[in-house]
Amino acid sequence: MSKKILITGASSGIGRALAYELAGRGYALALTARRLDALEEIREDLKTRHPSATVVVHPLDVVAYDTVPGVIAACAEDLGGLDILFANAGISRGEKVGQGRFDKARLTIETNLLGAMAAIDAAVAYFLEQGNGHVVGVASFTSFRGMPRMASYCASKAGLVLYLESLRAEVYRKNIHVTVLNPGYIDTPLNDMLKSRPFLVSAEKGAAMIAGMIEKKVKSSTVPVWPWCILGPLLRWLPTRVIAQF
Ligand SMILES: NC(=O)c1ccc[n+]([C@@H]2O[C@H](COP(=O)([O-])OP(=O)(O)OC[C@H]3O[C@@H](n4cnc5c(N)ncnc54)[C@H](OP(=O)(O)O)[C@@H]3O)[C@@H](O)[C@H]2O)c1
Repeated sequence: MSKKILITGASSGIGRALAYELAGRGYALALTARRLDALEEIREDLKTRHPSATVVVHPLDVVAYDTVPGVIAACAEDLGGLDILFANAGISRGEKVGQGRFDKARLTIETNLLGAMAAIDAAVAYFLEQGNGHVVGVASFTSFRGMPRMASYCASKAGLVLYLESLRAEVYRKNIHVTVLNPGYIDTPLNDMLKSRPFLVSAEKGAAMIAGMIEKKVKSSTVPVWPWCILGPLLRWLPTRVIAQF
């Protein structure tokens, strides 16, 4: 039987590319994001490429916390069950501390951390009830070390990593798997304005790697594995005078 996955942030970038990758692998998909028109376009295209694919779409703003459980339940109902949550919706605004941009910082935490937690909380409730499930959270290599001009983004991703580690301990022996992904640079609208994106991979390549990691139910990985598996932990050891140049 085909696996059923719900993707948040499926209208663009990594979430969108993963939808194409998993449709090709026979998964049933629930695609969510704020832009319903973009999701409907993706559904039409997927149905053309894979006529037998199951693709449902639901608008979801992860910051509208009270609506999240209802949307997750509606997706599960449409798919006839749910095996995997891919908690991926996120933003990266970039702001300095103390420059009057607390509004941006707050929205980053609300979206990347609280929004992800809202989706994970609702999905885990569903998984506990059915006795199995798999939560995949998209953090970032920036969860390894706080970087300048990215304080709220780094904090949101480091917070998500610890939240998922706590969850993994809570659901130990409950047949619920937890995967933490820390991407490096994947080519998406989130970062295409940056001057430097070392070791960049395409969204399609990143999605294929992520699909493999989901299927192997890895506990935690950088994406791609190499060189970020070395660079990520190494960031922790760099002196602040080096990090300050970034
Ligand atoms: N690309 C990278 O190199 C990279 C590296 C590390 C981590 N990440 C993480 O990977 C995830 C996906 O990013 P991406 O690179 O694919 O960026 P992207 O192309 O900008 O896609 C972001 C997705 O999140 C959705 N989203 C944003 N705010 C939302 C909200 N309030 N409610 C629901 N959906 C929302 C967007 O859809 P709507 O606008 O339609 O809502 C969009 O589908 C993010 O969590 C990001 O932090 C990316």
